[in-house]
Amino acid sequence: MTVSETKFVELNPSDAVVPSSVVGDAIIRVENLHKYYEMGETRVHALRGVSLRIRAGEFIAVMGASGSGKSTLMNIIGCLDQQTSGEYFLEGTDVAKLDKHSLAGIRNRKLGFVFQGFNLISRTTALENVALPTLYTKMDRPERVRRASEALALVGLGDRQDHYPSQMSGGQQQRVAIARALVNGPSILIADEPTGNLDSRTSVEIMDVLQNLNRQGLTIVMVTHEPDIAQFTKRVVVFRDGKIRRDEPVADRWDANVVLKTLPVLED
Ligand SMILES: Nc1ncnc2c1ncn2[C@@H]1O[C@H](COP(=O)(O)OP(=O)(O)OP(=O)(O)O)[C@@H](O)[C@H]1O
Ligand SMILES: [Mg+2]
Repeated sequence: MTVSETKFVELNPSDAVVPSSVVGDAIIRVENLHKYYEMGETRVHALRGVSLRIRAGEFIAVMGASGSGKSTLMNIIGCLDQQTSGEYFLEGTDVAKLDKHSLAGIRNRKLGFVFQGFNLISRTTALENVALPTLYTKMDRPERVRRASEALALVGLGDRQDHYPSQMSGGQQQRVAIARALVNGPSILIADEPTGNLDSRTSVEIMDVLQNLNRQGLTIVMVTHEPDIAQFTKRVVVFRDGKIRRDEPVADRWDANVVLKTLPVLED
């Protein structure tokens, strides 16, 4: 599925009237989420009533100060943790009602994760790293290899399959991590500061990869601290003190492919 700009304009969250058909399209819907972390005597109120709808094909930057609740929300959306109260529907399913087994299944099939640290296994090749999540599926070996190699090609690393992480640049390692997140064909990519460890050109290269994937229909929710990185997305959601304080479409969105042409090339 491809997502046209027209559709995005139509989905502008600040539109006064959102057609009900569009609301029904939300693949992620959270309503009045609260999250408390219990730490002995103290209780941290990390999310204080967060409501958010994310439709297929969106590309969202989640921003806000350190400790404002961004990762807490990502972990809940990613089914890695659960809210204390409020509701979370993923493609219409009430996630809180799922048992552990179904949750693990959803996490593995529908969601892909990318973090600031690439978390690659250093003693295995790019291909084996990418194939890892397929081990929890019923695919046979040839299918795993085919999928992993396709995912590497998608992020522009078709020629680096046999490289070990130590033989790749930071940007290439992050692309391997993105390929690993994609290998089971998720509909949503959750990225928590994916460019946090990268220099500025390499960060734009990663945004180029993410923009391409988004053009092909992948929904992306990405935490970033950098306004220059958010400028490549379609919508910015800003957190403060556990609440969403701003939620706006990105005006004058940047195209990473164009920006890259203006940046000096570094040694790779
Ligand atoms: N596992 C945990 N146990 C206890 N408190 C936690 C835990 N995880 C997060 N917190 C607290 O919850 C609040 C929100 O944390 P969160 O990690 O969501 O922030 P963040 O917006 O992702 O920050 P950063 O930009 O630094 O990554 C913070 O006050 C944090 O200290
Ligand atoms: Mg965080």
